[in-house]
This record gives sequence, C-alpha cells and structure tokens, in this order.
Amino acid sequence: MHRVTWVLGNWKQNHRPAAAKVGAEAIADGVAEALSNPDPTAGEVRVGIAPPYLSLEAVRPYTRLDDTVVLLAQDCAAQDEGAFTGEVGPAMLRDAEVEGAIIGHSERRAYFHEDDALIAAKLRAVLEGGLVCVLCVGEALEARDAGEHESTVISQLSGAFSNVGPELVNERLVIAYEPVWAIGTGRNATPEQAAQMHATIRRWMGERFGSAGADRSILYGGSVKPGNASALIAAGEVDGFLVGGASLDPTSFLAIVRAAATTARPTA
Ligand code: 13P
Repeated sequence: MHRVTWVLGNWKQNHRPAAAKVGAEAIADGVAEALSNPDPTAGEVRVGIAPPYLSLEAVRPYTRLDDTVVLLAQDCAAQDEGAFTGEVGPAMLRDAEVEGAIIGHSERRAYFHEDDALIAAKLRAVLEGGLVCVLCVGEALEARDAGEHESTVISQLSGAFSNVGPELVNERLVIAYEPVWAIGTGRNATPEQAAQMHATIRRWMGERFGSAGADRSILYGGSVKPGNASALIAAGEVDGFLVGGASLDPTSFLAIVRAAATTARPTA
C-alpha cells in the first residue's frame, strides 16, 4: 500500500500575521509545481503549515479543507472549553477551520513540562475531535548515547496511546519521529537511523493496533533540509517530514516538498 506522504512546516514561535501571510502565499503559489511530477511510490502527498495560533487566520486563506495544503495548530488543549486560562481546544480549532494539531513536540515536553499523561489526554481529545493529530516522539542525546533510544520512544508511544482504543487509529493519526539532538542543530539523523526507528515505531503500532496501526504515516523531523530530504526518503520507512527552520523559507520548504514527492520509495 502507498501511505500518505506528508510534508509539514512547523513555524514554532515565528511569523506574526503579516509575515505568515507572505510565507503561506509563497508556499501556496509554489506547491502545485512542487507536486507536479510525483514518483508513483510517493502515493498521495499532502503539505501542511502549522503557524502560531495568532497567525492561523492569516494563513487560512492559503489552505483549504480537503485540499493539498492543510492548516495545523502547533498544540491543542485536552478539553474543549472551560476555566483553563490560555488554552485552545479541539472545538475552537475546528471552528477556525484548522484541520489538525501537533501534539507532544519535544519543545513542549522540555520547556512546558508536558508529561505522558497530558500528551495522552491531548492525543485522545484531538482524535476524538475529528482533527488530524501529528504525535511527536523522539529521544534526547543522552538516551541515544546510552543505547536507550528505542526504549525511550516506545515508552513515549505507550504513554501517549495509554487511553486510545483502535477505533481512533485511522488515517487522521500521523506520527513524527523527531530526535531531540537533531532539532535545530543542523545534525539530522542518518537515513539508516531514521529508517531503523521508524521500523521500530511501525512494529509497535502494529502489535498494538494491528494493520490500522502499522499503516500509519511516520514522518521524520530534525534538521530536514533540501539537501538531505531525498536520502532520508530513499532509505525507506520515512513517509515525509516535519520541518522546522527550513519551513520558514518558502523556497527551501518547497524544495523539500518536491524531494518528498519525487523520490522513489524502495519496494518492500
Ligand atoms: P528543525 O527542522 O528546525 O530542526 O526543527 C524540527 C522540528 O522541531 C519540527 O517540529
């Protein structure tokens, strides 16, 4: 089967509305050309942008429901409404015509102390809310150096899915493997490291949820650039990218989209 290829730009705390509009317009203008010559093994390719909350409105005209460029939030509360100062939940995102949310990003885990229980609640809320959920997992450098990268990621998966039944595991669930040591460092995981971890994630998802789990798109994130995107895809198991820094430059982001769309996947 061909899994959906996703190329998602996580703008993090960058691009206030005026700059977001310019960036989104450039991406929307270039995306058709970037997707014009796909490799048949790439399957359906979907592009997404995750701006800061306050810039969602500025980006929305350049994204369309059910179209190629989707609009995502960078986080989502576990509850729809109530006395939760500062929070934005699934119902509010749906009202704003946001199609999905990133959950469990390592920056949220590290700087905002999000733990497995909170990420589990958010994951469930986003999926129950009918949104696309991009669940991020990834080990810190110490875990990698200690040979504990796989056990760390498996522990993050079992925490995040502790409260999710198979009925919520469908095409709206996307997983992103983002090793912390590769984020914003210019040091990407090698294609072999990414392929190996993606295979581990896929095996765990299959054991837990059967083929619905094993068939999920698994993205790689961490210093993805136009120059390394093709090699990461070509090693197999990588179904697209979650791009940080390079997504702020439309030319770089579109080059990554083009690489993801045109690189042949190895046949299994
Ligand atoms: P960089 O592409 O800047 O390394 O960031 C990756 C990331 O954290 C995307 O969510």
